[in-house]
Amino acid sequence: MTEMTPVTDTNANAADAEAPKKMVLPDAQTVTAVRHWTDRLFSFRVTRPASLRFRSGEFVMIGLMGDPHPETGKQKPLLRAYSIASPSWDEELEFYSIKVQDGPLTSKLQHIKVGDQIILRPKPVGTLVHDALLPGKRIWFFATGTGFAPFASLLREPQTYEDYDEVIITHTCREAGELQYGAELIESLKDDELLNEVIGEGFWKKIKYYPTTTREESAKMGRITDLMRSGEAFADLGVEPLNAETDRAMICGNLAFNLELKEMLEDYGLEEGANSDPKHYVVEKAFLD
Ligand code: A2P
Repeated sequence: MTEMTPVTDTNANAADAEAPKKMVLPDAQTVTAVRHWTDRLFSFRVTRPASLRFRSGEFVMIGLMGDPHPETGKQKPLLRAYSIASPSWDEELEFYSIKVQDGPLTSKLQHIKVGDQIILRPKPVGTLVHDALLPGKRIWFFATGTGFAPFASLLREPQTYEDYDEVIITHTCREAGELQYGAELIESLKDDELLNEVIGEGFWKKIKYYPTTTREESAKMGRITDLMRSGEAFADLGVEPLNAETDRAMICGNLAFNLELKEMLEDYGLEEGANSDPKHYVVEKAFLD
């Protein structure tokens, strides 16, 4: 990470001399919408740099300027990896974030408002991309918490429906309120005129959504890993357990979840792929501050 000093607005004229100088952040983008889902979760949208191209499922580094150094007054950008939650064709960028009250970045980021600026390094990377998977019949998106973000992008990506007959999204959260962002997004796909036109009328019928909670009562309780081990998840979904012939998978959640599910997928016979070597499944850690 390079140390950067904020640039002051060079267009400021003499009349503005008395006014506080407007800071222009490097790689600045402007916030266009903010929505708070729970006291732990929020999503926001920002302007998209004209030159930014990315593949649905990738992440970028975003953040804010840190506090000035007590002696030098210099400020360093405070950046973290965030999956882009919007699809590659969207004219804005969307992000889905946790709020950690003493987290270096999210303790500040959670207070952003429309019109504020954030820093966005326009260098997208990531493993949760269609290019890292071999052709298959059914794709599984496995998420916990804010790990839903890359799938919010991929669920709005036409290629997901061109490549697969079935799209299964599982989302495990502690509390029911934490499922709302995902649930609303999936529900909104049905009435999305643009997507129905571009992908094909009724494309959303390929989706099977399987939300579960672990610490609050909801329609389906339990960790997805346990529900798969017992066979309950497959029975509920009306599908066979995964196999390398037909199933492809993407995993994004907390570290323990990723590791446990990775081992399970290996037991089903699936192998981990990469951009340079496409196989049956890919994994990425969800951002935590
Ligand atoms: P649990 O409540 O049983 O820990 P977090 O907010 O801590 O990132 O967790 C998000 C969700 O992921 C929680 O519902 C949590 O369940 C679940 N989870 C955590 N670790 C695992 C794991 N190893 N396998 C499956 N689910 C997990």
